[in-house]
Amino acid sequence: MRLNKFLSSSGLASRRKCDEIICSGRVFVNGKCASVGCEINEKKDVVTVDGVRVKLPTDFVYLKLNKPKGYACTASDERGRKTIFDLVDTKTRLFSVGRLDYNTEGLIFLTNDGEFANLVAHPHFHFEKEYQVTVEGEMKESELAVLRNGVVEKGVRMPKAKVKLLEYDGKNTKLSVVIDEGQNHQVRRMFDCIGKVIVLLKRVRIGNVKLGGLSRGKTKPLTEEEIAFFVEAK
Ligand code: URA
Repeated sequence: MRLNKFLSSSGLASRRKCDEIICSGRVFVNGKCASVGCEINEKKDVVTVDGVRVKLPTDFVYLKLNKPKGYACTASDERGRKTIFDLVDTKTRLFSVGRLDYNTEGLIFLTNDGEFANLVAHPHFHFEKEYQVTVEGEMKESELAVLRNGVVEKGVRMPKAKVKLLEYDGKNTKLSVVIDEGQNHQVRRMFDCIGKVIVLLKRVRIGNVKLGGLSRGKTKPLTEEEIAFFVEAK
């Protein structure tokens, strides 16, 4: 196996980033400083990064979680806040596929398969992410058109979004917003640009995987079919 694939499968980083880490001289194979492009025998060779041995998981875990509002997506939060990993009862070291903001709720994947995490998060594949967005007040047709065409933020056009008006209850408006990129705080920034205040932001779908009826704070394994949807896009 290529060393960068081995490292990325362990969850270290994407293959490209792993190449950079190898170049920086932090990776050793059987005690020798490794070079980019080298092949390893993952069953026999001892690989270390910064002196710590890297091993591949023997069993892969793929979960969907309904992240509640008020949880961070980092492994340990520097401000001591609750993290999504407090919600998962497993001895396996898992990481999240991408992130949701502290105050965003909804669907997020957890896995120990670094290659899967990199695939789902990779911008090349444009996997759709659907959000349910509730904003204060009513939305004008012209505002919907701006979101659909890509809002302009500090002179730079953000990606287009598929936007559907779901309901206006006389106070707030509920919308479905689908994006296929994962820029930081992308949805909040889009609504900020048009001066709308978000009351609730919830991710309800990634690719073919829906949040469905999964309760807040609960996890459920992804099905073979759900995993295959991403793997077959390669
Ligand atoms: N867009 C955001 O602004 N925040 C999220 O958590 C996800 C998408």
